[in-house]
Amino acid sequence: MLTEHSLNFLVVEDSPLSNQFICNMLRDLGHQVVGQAYNAQEALELTLRLKPDIVLMDLQMPDPLTGHDDERAGIKGTRAIQAHRPTPVIALTAYESAELIREASEAGVGAYLIKPPDIYAIERAALVAYARFKDQQTLQRLNEALQREIAIREQLEARLQEYTDQLERKVVEKLYELEQEQAKVIHLDKLAALGEMATGIVHELVQPLSAISYEADYIKLLIEQAETPGILSPQEWENLRKIGENLKEDLARCKRLIDHLRTFGRSANIPPIPVDLNQPIYASLMLVNVRLGHRNVDLQLHLAEHLPPILADPYKLEQVFLNLISNAEYALEQQRRVAPAGYQKTLTITTQTVGEMVEATVHDNGCGIPPEAQERLFQPFFTTKPQGEGTGLGLSISRRIVTEFGGTLTCESVVGEGTKFTLRFPAFRSEN
Ligand SMILES: Nc1ncnc2c1ncn2[C@@H]1O[C@H](COP(=O)(O)OP(=O)(O)OP(=O)(O)O)[C@@H](O)[C@H]1O
Ligand SMILES: [Mg+2]
Repeated sequence: MLTEHSLNFLVVEDSPLSNQFICNMLRDLGHQVVGQAYNAQEALELTLRLKPDIVLMDLQMPDPLTGHDDERAGIKGTRAIQAHRPTPVIALTAYESAELIREASEAGVGAYLIKPPDIYAIERAALVAYARFKDQQTLQRLNEALQREIAIREQLEARLQEYTDQLERKVVEKLYELEQEQAKVIHLDKLAALGEMATGIVHELVQPLSAISYEADYIKLLIEQAETPGILSPQEWENLRKIGENLKEDLARCKRLIDHLRTFGRSANIPPIPVDLNQPIYASLMLVNVRLGHRNVDLQLHLAEHLPPILADPYKLEQVFLNLISNAEYALEQQRRVAPAGYQKTLTITTQTVGEMVEATVHDNGCGIPPEAQERLFQPFFTTKPQGEGTGLGLSISRRIVTEFGGTLTCESVVGEGTKFTLRFPAFRSEN
């Protein structure tokens, strides 16, 4: 025996004599013969039942149904065995033809031997076929394991990709939130710095400006009195008068800026007191009522009586209403320029109690605000007014004041229809 372990053979040979002869020789070499078959059908049955290591298969055998010789019976049997229980098969044949060899090898025959069989050749072929078969099985198992591993890796990769995507989305979201937070902090920082600066600037500006204002008045007066023909040409007098007027206008603009800055710079430490929300509305109207009349604004007041008080600084609230009314006036004038005849500028101011809140609205039927501007409305220095006419601080300061007293300031607007600002404050209910 050429190997340490003996092999289990199934011998398939239609001639009982040859069959027995081969079996005896195999046993003499130390191998086992687990079964003997005499046609292809038996070969398959015994292979399934006895599970031999090697099938030694005659190729030409009689068909058990017809009794006729079939030179491909062994090839068919091999095919059936490989389909049901893959086992190494060695072909034994009396004929040698290229076609038969090719067919046999396609069917799964591992070696092809010519009769009469040389027992040593059979043993060598059996060993090689058996070893190759075992290698193939190992390879197949490895391959299957590899496929399983690939599948698992693919699954893991897919999951990893999913996690990565999720993580990326989260990072983007967080970054966005962070940017928003940062923008808020910068905004607040800016406002705080501005607040500090404002007090100083106002203080520094008030003195020289009131002096300039006084001097401008005096220059204007002098110009009017000195209008003597001959000294200056009429055009030059006219120019001088214009300069005087411009001076007044520029000063008025400076005063507006200072007014904004004054409220802005007001210390937030003044403790808020209970205020009837109607009170700052009346106070601001006292200042602008006449101007509204001149500008043909129909003022509609719907102020609820007996509002619960809110906790606030009434002067700061007055400034908020002045800002809102001044903005409304501007928007009404803008609209008048493009509106059809019969347009009536209308400004409606209301107050009412809404649950635990006290609400005021300032509503105009002016030009309205386009959506992209609405987003930036409360940002400091956002203005659509021509350069020099607006500071863009009115609304940002107003909102800061309102939030300082626990309230909200919001805006709804439709271009060409008008704008409504809504202020809401928590009602102050005293304990006693
Ligand atoms: N009632 C309104 N109708 C239409 N647009 C408005 C109204 N109120 C505010 N706006 C828009 O918001 C912008 C910002 O207003 P904000 O009061 O902050 O500054 P401003 O009015 O431009 O400057 P300032 O208050 O110094 O005069 C205005 O320029 C204007 O475009
Ligand atoms: Mg304004």
